[in-house]
Amino acid sequence: MAGKENLIVALDVPTLAEAQKLADELRNEVGMFKVGLELYSREGLDLLSWFSKESLPVFFDGKFHDIPNTVAAASAAVVAHNVKMFNVHAAGGSKMIGAAAEACAKANGAKPILLAVTILTSMSQQVMNDEIGIAGQVESYVKKLALLSKFAGADGVVASAAEAKLIAEACGRDFVIVTPGIRPSWAGQDDQVRVVTPADAISNGAHYIVVGRPIVKAANRKDAAKRVVEELLSAG
Ligand code: C5P
Repeated sequence: MAGKENLIVALDVPTLAEAQKLADELRNEVGMFKVGLELYSREGLDLLSWFSKESLPVFFDGKFHDIPNTVAAASAAVVAHNVKMFNVHAAGGSKMIGAAAEACAKANGAKPILLAVTILTSMSQQVMNDEIGIAGQVESYVKKLALLSKFAGADGVVASAAEAKLIAEACGRDFVIVTPGIRPSWAGQDDQVRVVTPADAISNGAHYIVVGRPIVKAANRKDAAKRVVEELLSAG
């Protein structure tokens, strides 16, 4: 049964003070907080200490994509902060994903969940084909990257909920699927292209949904989070 444990709120704000305010406000309404590049670039990894001290579970969305040696060292630094999840880009290849998985295996506390990003939910088929030069359907590339990630030692993927079914079929129900690009019917689409509602994401097989602006920019953020959780509960 899905509920607030399955809801991750993206703390896409510029300062630790704002992130703390947001996390304090929503700590009883959601299951996890996502710290992404905006906050990290301004505040550095030390900001994670506050979440650890407050026992607030964190998904560190650093999306590493570099040579295996560098990703290994960066992953070790993240793992030392007791994050619940963090991620690398699947397109970095099996050696790079494996380097991050090795860093996770060396965790002192609970082993973090290692996720690999397949294709950003803001990317359309046309951009993938014409700008990046990857031919074919988004779905087949996502499936290929999910299988590669599993083979290389990742515990799951970040993908659009539109692809969750095919990932679960290919990689099994235990392979964790985290889906951003979530838009409740009452929210605008912003810059996301491949969007899915919270209930549909869970029905498609997502284990966690990531929601940013529909909650963070809402006039009443607690209320918006509660409405999303209601939708998750309705998905069963
Ligand atoms: O505001 P919104 O709900 O669109 O925020 C989605 C969050 O998920 C952002 O922090 C974005 O960086 C992140 N994300 C994404 N697509 C991915 C991976 C992460 O939108 N494939």
